[in-house]
Amino acid sequence: MKIAIDGPASAGKSTISKLVAQALDFTYLDTGAMYRATTYLALQQKIALDDAPKIAQALAKATIDFQNGPENDQKVFLNGEDITEVIRSAEVTGLVSQVAALPEVRQTLVQQQRQIADRTNIVMDGRDIGTTVLPDAEVKIFMTASVLRRAQRRYKENIAKGMTTSLETIKTDIEHRDYKDSHRAVSPLRQAEDAIVVDTSDLNIEQSTAKILGIIRQKMN
Ligand code: CDP
Ligand code: CDP
Repeated sequence: MKIAIDGPASAGKSTISKLVAQALDFTYLDTGAMYRATTYLALQQKIALDDAPKIAQALAKATIDFQNGPENDQKVFLNGEDITEVIRSAEVTGLVSQVAALPEVRQTLVQQQRQIADRTNIVMDGRDIGTTVLPDAEVKIFMTASVLRRAQRRYKENIAKGMTTSLETIKTDIEHRDYKDSHRAVSPLRQAEDAIVVDTSDLNIEQSTAKILGIIRQKMN
Protein backbone atom coordinates (compact mmCIF):
# COMPACT_ATOMS: atom_id res chain seq x y z
CA MET A 1 0.00 0.00 0.00
CA LYS A 2 1.24 3.48 -0.89
CA ILE A 3 0.29 6.71 0.87
CA ALA A 4 1.35 10.02 -0.69
CA ILE A 5 1.47 13.18 1.43
CA ASP A 6 2.28 16.42 -0.40
CA GLY A 7 2.00 20.08 0.44
CA PRO A 8 3.83 23.36 0.98
CA ALA A 9 6.74 23.95 3.39
CA SER A 10 6.13 23.41 7.08
CA ALA A 11 2.54 22.20 6.80
CA GLY A 12 3.33 19.28 9.13
CA LYS A 13 3.99 16.65 6.46
CA SER A 14 7.04 14.96 7.96
CA THR A 15 5.84 15.07 11.58
CA ILE A 16 2.44 13.62 10.73
CA SER A 17 3.72 11.17 8.09
CA LYS A 18 6.15 9.65 10.61
CA LEU A 19 3.37 9.16 13.17
CA VAL A 20 1.00 7.74 10.55
CA ALA A 21 3.69 5.31 9.33
CA GLN A 22 4.42 4.25 12.90
CA ALA A 23 0.70 3.66 13.63
CA LEU A 24 0.33 1.51 10.49
CA ASP A 25 3.75 -0.15 10.77
CA PHE A 26 4.66 1.20 7.32
CA THR A 27 8.02 2.57 6.14
CA TYR A 28 8.32 6.37 6.13
CA LEU A 29 10.28 8.16 3.41
CA ASP A 30 11.10 11.88 3.68
CA THR A 31 11.81 12.81 0.04
CA GLY A 32 12.61 16.41 1.02
CA ALA A 33 15.63 15.06 2.91
CA MET A 34 16.88 13.52 -0.36
CA TYR A 35 16.77 16.91 -2.14
CA ARG A 36 18.40 18.51 0.90
CA ALA A 37 21.13 15.80 0.91
CA THR A 38 21.78 16.44 -2.79
CA THR A 39 22.13 20.19 -2.12
CA TYR A 40 24.58 19.45 0.70
CA LEU A 41 26.52 17.09 -1.59
CA ALA A 42 26.89 19.82 -4.25
CA LEU A 43 28.03 22.35 -1.64
CA GLN A 44 30.48 19.86 -0.11
CA GLN A 45 32.00 19.05 -3.51
CA LYS A 46 31.94 22.73 -4.52
CA ILE A 47 29.85 22.05 -7.61
CA ALA A 48 28.01 25.08 -9.02
CA LEU A 49 24.32 24.66 -8.17
CA ASP A 50 23.28 25.17 -11.80
CA ASP A 51 25.71 22.51 -13.08
CA ALA A 52 23.07 19.80 -13.42
CA PRO A 53 25.25 17.15 -15.16
CA LYS A 54 27.97 17.42 -12.48
CA ILE A 55 25.50 17.26 -9.61
CA ALA A 56 23.78 14.26 -11.23
CA GLN A 57 27.17 12.58 -11.65
CA ALA A 58 28.05 13.13 -7.98
CA LEU A 59 24.59 11.92 -6.93
CA ALA A 60 24.96 8.73 -8.97
CA LYS A 61 28.13 7.88 -7.02
CA ALA A 62 26.65 8.83 -3.63
CA THR A 63 24.52 6.87 -1.16
CA ILE A 64 21.70 8.44 0.81
CA ASP A 65 20.53 6.26 3.72
CA PHE A 66 17.86 6.61 6.38
CA GLN A 67 18.07 5.05 9.82
CA ASN A 68 15.25 4.98 12.35
CA GLY A 69 16.33 6.00 15.83
CA PRO A 70 14.51 6.18 19.16
CA GLU A 71 11.42 8.38 19.67
CA ASN A 72 10.47 8.28 16.02
CA ASP A 73 13.61 10.18 15.00
CA GLN A 74 14.93 9.41 11.57
CA LYS A 75 18.59 10.03 10.80
CA VAL A 76 19.87 10.81 7.32
CA PHE A 77 23.30 9.71 6.09
CA LEU A 78 25.24 10.77 3.00
CA ASN A 79 28.05 8.36 2.14
CA GLY A 80 28.00 7.26 5.78
CA GLU A 81 28.16 10.80 7.22
CA ASP A 82 25.32 11.80 9.55
CA ILE A 83 23.82 14.87 7.84
CA THR A 84 20.52 14.97 9.77
CA GLU A 85 21.17 18.38 11.33
CA VAL A 86 23.25 20.08 8.64
CA ILE A 87 20.63 19.58 5.92
CA ARG A 88 18.16 21.66 8.01
CA SER A 89 20.59 24.62 8.13
CA ALA A 90 19.50 28.00 6.75
CA GLU A 91 22.12 27.61 3.99
CA VAL A 92 20.76 24.32 2.65
CA THR A 93 17.14 25.43 3.17
CA GLY A 94 17.78 28.59 1.15
CA LEU A 95 19.32 26.69 -1.78
CA VAL A 96 17.40 23.41 -1.94
CA SER A 97 14.60 24.61 -4.26
CA GLN A 98 17.19 25.60 -6.87
CA VAL A 99 18.74 22.11 -6.85
CA ALA A 100 15.30 20.43 -6.70
CA ALA A 101 14.33 22.23 -9.94
CA LEU A 102 17.09 20.43 -11.93
CA PRO A 103 15.45 17.72 -14.09
CA GLU A 104 18.53 15.45 -13.88
CA VAL A 105 18.40 15.49 -10.08
CA ARG A 106 14.66 14.81 -10.00
CA GLN A 107 15.01 11.92 -12.43
CA THR A 108 17.59 10.16 -10.24
CA LEU A 109 15.77 10.75 -6.94
CA VAL A 110 12.30 9.86 -8.26
CA GLN A 111 13.72 6.56 -9.53
CA GLN A 112 15.22 5.80 -6.10
CA GLN A 113 11.94 6.75 -4.37
CA ARG A 114 9.93 4.40 -6.62
CA GLN A 115 12.38 1.56 -5.98
CA ILE A 116 11.96 1.98 -2.22
CA ALA A 117 8.14 2.04 -2.58
CA ASP A 118 8.24 -1.17 -4.63
CA ARG A 119 9.71 -3.08 -1.68
CA THR A 120 7.40 -2.08 1.18
CA ASN A 121 4.18 -0.48 2.40
CA ILE A 122 5.05 3.19 2.52
CA VAL A 123 4.09 6.68 3.64
CA MET A 124 6.04 9.10 1.44
CA ASP A 125 5.98 12.87 1.87
CA GLY A 126 7.15 15.60 -0.50
CA ARG A 127 5.86 17.88 -3.23
CA ASP A 128 5.25 15.61 -6.24
CA ILE A 129 4.49 12.22 -4.68
CA GLY A 130 0.80 12.01 -5.64
CA THR A 131 1.35 13.60 -9.05
CA THR A 132 4.64 12.09 -10.26
CA VAL A 133 6.40 9.62 -7.96
CA LEU A 134 3.44 7.42 -6.98
CA PRO A 135 0.50 8.43 -9.21
CA ASP A 136 -1.12 5.09 -8.33
CA ALA A 137 -0.94 5.64 -4.54
CA GLU A 138 -4.07 4.30 -2.80
CA VAL A 139 -4.32 7.40 -0.60
CA LYS A 140 -3.21 10.91 -1.56
CA ILE A 141 -3.28 13.74 0.93
CA PHE A 142 -2.57 17.39 0.19
CA MET A 143 -1.61 18.83 3.57
CA THR A 144 -1.71 22.56 3.98
CA ALA A 145 -2.04 25.36 6.57
CA SER A 146 -2.04 29.16 6.47
CA VAL A 147 1.39 30.63 5.79
CA LEU A 148 1.33 32.48 9.12
CA ARG A 149 0.59 29.30 11.04
CA ARG A 150 3.33 27.44 9.17
CA ALA A 151 5.84 30.22 9.87
CA GLN A 152 4.85 30.31 13.55
CA ARG A 153 5.45 26.58 13.88
CA ARG A 154 8.86 26.74 12.17
CA TYR A 155 9.74 29.74 14.36
CA LYS A 156 8.88 27.79 17.51
CA GLU A 157 10.90 24.82 16.27
CA ASN A 158 13.91 27.08 15.51
CA ILE A 159 13.77 28.76 18.93
CA ALA A 160 13.90 25.33 20.58
CA LYS A 161 17.07 24.62 18.56
CA GLY A 162 18.63 27.95 19.59
CA MET A 163 18.18 29.61 16.17
CA THR A 164 17.09 33.26 16.22
CA THR A 165 15.69 34.00 12.73
CA SER A 166 12.70 36.37 13.02
CA LEU A 167 9.14 35.22 12.34
CA GLU A 168 8.89 37.68 9.45
CA THR A 169 12.05 36.28 7.78
CA ILE A 170 10.84 32.70 8.19
CA LYS A 171 7.46 33.64 6.68
CA THR A 172 9.14 35.34 3.68
CA ASP A 173 11.50 32.36 3.19
CA ILE A 174 8.58 29.92 3.24
CA GLU A 175 6.66 32.03 0.70
CA HIS A 176 9.68 32.23 -1.62
CA ARG A 177 10.31 28.48 -1.40
CA ASP A 178 6.64 27.65 -2.03
CA TYR A 179 6.66 29.99 -5.03
CA LYS A 180 9.79 28.37 -6.52
CA ASP A 181 8.50 24.85 -5.83
CA SER A 182 5.12 25.63 -7.43
CA HIS A 183 6.52 27.33 -10.52
CA ARG A 184 9.36 25.03 -11.65
CA ALA A 185 9.00 23.33 -15.01
CA VAL A 186 9.44 19.73 -13.86
CA SER A 187 6.89 18.20 -11.44
CA PRO A 188 6.00 21.37 -9.55
CA LEU A 189 4.23 21.34 -6.21
CA ARG A 190 0.53 20.97 -6.94
CA GLN A 191 -2.42 19.09 -5.59
CA ALA A 192 -3.16 15.82 -7.40
CA GLU A 193 -6.71 15.73 -8.78
CA ASP A 194 -7.57 12.76 -6.57
CA ALA A 195 -5.90 14.12 -3.41
CA ILE A 196 -7.85 14.89 -0.24
CA VAL A 197 -7.01 18.31 1.22
CA VAL A 198 -6.23 18.41 4.93
CA ASP A 199 -5.79 21.89 6.40
CA THR A 200 -3.87 21.63 9.68
CA SER A 201 -4.08 25.36 10.57
CA ASP A 202 -6.38 24.65 13.50
CA LEU A 203 -5.34 21.07 14.21
CA ASN A 204 -2.60 20.04 16.61
CA ILE A 205 -0.27 17.13 15.86
CA GLU A 206 -2.54 14.50 17.47
CA GLN A 207 -5.64 15.82 15.69
CA SER A 208 -3.86 16.01 12.32
CA THR A 209 -2.57 12.44 12.72
CA ALA A 210 -6.02 11.14 13.73
CA LYS A 211 -7.62 12.88 10.75
CA ILE A 212 -5.21 11.30 8.27
CA LEU A 213 -5.42 7.86 9.87
CA GLY A 214 -9.23 8.15 9.62
CA ILE A 215 -9.00 8.91 5.88
CA ILE A 216 -6.60 5.99 5.33
CA ARG A 217 -8.70 3.50 7.34
CA GLN A 218 -11.81 4.53 5.43
CA LYS A 219 -9.98 3.84 2.13
CA MET A 220 -8.62 0.51 3.42
CA ASN A 221 -12.16 -0.63 4.20
O1 CDP B 1 10.35 20.32 5.57
P1 CDP B 1 10.22 21.42 4.56
O2 CDP B 1 8.80 21.61 4.13
O3 CDP B 1 10.90 22.68 4.95
O4 CDP B 1 10.96 20.96 3.25
P2 CDP B 1 11.33 19.52 2.75
O5 CDP B 1 10.13 18.65 2.68
O6 CDP B 1 12.50 19.07 3.53
O7 CDP B 1 11.77 19.84 1.25
C1 CDP B 1 12.85 20.70 0.96
C2 CDP B 1 12.76 21.10 -0.50
O8 CDP B 1 12.99 19.96 -1.30
C3 CDP B 1 11.44 21.68 -0.97
O9 CDP B 1 11.31 23.07 -0.72
C4 CDP B 1 11.50 21.37 -2.47
O10 CDP B 1 12.28 22.34 -3.15
C5 CDP B 1 12.26 20.05 -2.52
N1 CDP B 1 11.39 18.88 -2.66
C6 CDP B 1 10.93 18.58 -3.94
O11 CDP B 1 11.19 19.32 -4.87
N2 CDP B 1 10.21 17.45 -4.15
C7 CDP B 1 9.91 16.63 -3.15
N3 CDP B 1 9.23 15.50 -3.39
C8 CDP B 1 10.33 16.94 -1.83
C9 CDP B 1 11.06 18.09 -1.62
O1 CDP C 1 7.37 18.44 6.79
P1 CDP C 1 6.79 19.81 6.81
O2 CDP C 1 7.75 20.84 6.40
O3 CDP C 1 5.49 19.92 6.07
O4 CDP C 1 6.40 20.16 8.32
P2 CDP C 1 6.98 19.60 9.69
O5 CDP C 1 8.45 19.81 9.73
O6 CDP C 1 6.47 18.23 9.94
O7 CDP C 1 6.24 20.54 10.73
C1 CDP C 1 6.63 21.87 10.95
C2 CDP C 1 6.43 22.19 12.43
O8 CDP C 1 5.05 22.27 12.73
C3 CDP C 1 7.02 21.13 13.37
O9 CDP C 1 7.67 21.81 14.43
C4 CDP C 1 5.79 20.39 13.88
O10 CDP C 1 5.98 19.90 15.19
C5 CDP C 1 4.73 21.49 13.88
N1 CDP C 1 3.33 21.04 13.69
C6 CDP C 1 2.36 21.48 14.57
O11 CDP C 1 2.67 22.19 15.53
N2 CDP C 1 1.04 21.09 14.41
C7 CDP C 1 0.67 20.34 13.38
N3 CDP C 1 -0.61 20.02 13.23
C8 CDP C 1 1.64 19.90 12.47
C9 CDP C 1 2.97 20.26 12.64
